[in-house]
Amino acid sequence: MTDLIALSDISKQYGSIRILDHCSLRASPGEFVIITGSSGSGKSTLLYLIGLLDDRFTGNYRLFDKDVRQMSDPEKSILRNTRIGFIFQNYHLVPHMSVRDNILLPSLYRKKSIFLSVSDRMENLPELLGIENLLDRDICELSGGQKQRIAVARALLYHPDLILADEPTGNLDPDNTAILMELFLELKQQGKTILMVTHDPSLRPFGDRIVDL
Ligand SMILES: Nc1ncnc2c1ncn2[C@@H]1O[C@H](COP(=O)(O)OP(=O)(O)OP(=O)(O)O)[C@@H](O)[C@H]1O
Ligand SMILES: [Mg+2]
Repeated sequence: MTDLIALSDISKQYGSIRILDHCSLRASPGEFVIITGSSGSGKSTLLYLIGLLDDRFTGNYRLFDKDVRQMSDPEKSILRNTRIGFIFQNYHLVPHMSVRDNILLPSLYRKKSIFLSVSDRMENLPELLGIENLLDRDICELSGGQKQRIAVARALLYHPDLILADEPTGNLDPDNTAILMELFLELKQQGKTILMVTHDPSLRPFGDRIVDL
């Protein structure tokens, strides 16, 4: 099967400090890869690079069977908005904006905007994640775990092919962690590729493979 992600010999430095050192990683459709490593080892840096949010690296990177270096900025931006769902470690939600608008935010950057048909969305997500009663609240009023679930909903709403999840359960209680893992396994069954960074050893068995940075 063709790899969805093929990184080879990737290195990245900040100034004189090397963060990623000749790193290689492959992932196929339907694969659930868990990324671990000590704090500061470069896990978030790697996800940013994979998610087309950072092009300051050396090495080869093919995504969706295309060389990332050959992609134009608009092309990358379309991929980010339509095929990649990024759950950020720090949520990246917009304060002083409602939960609903935050979840719909990526669709505002799309040409068709929110006029996408309802069937294009995972409409059951707010209920599944237990945030249906929060939709009209302001982001600033919410707890860490509530924000984390909203960040998950925003990333998954439009069925991305690639899910990049940076410690998505870091602020979740055990019940919500179990719900998210079940959802990831369901998405994996549908052929989605999931890369999940976690420090939680109890989540390792969910992965097909563990990559330790
Ligand atoms: N913009 C930046 N400028 C300089 N150094 C940076 C920058 N961003 C990250 N770093 C450094 O790169 C290293 C890797 O950071 P990264 O956030 O990828 O770690 P991580 O593995 O995700 O850690 P954690 O488990 O704490 O989230 C760290 O040492 C960090 O200080
Ligand atoms: Mg990190």
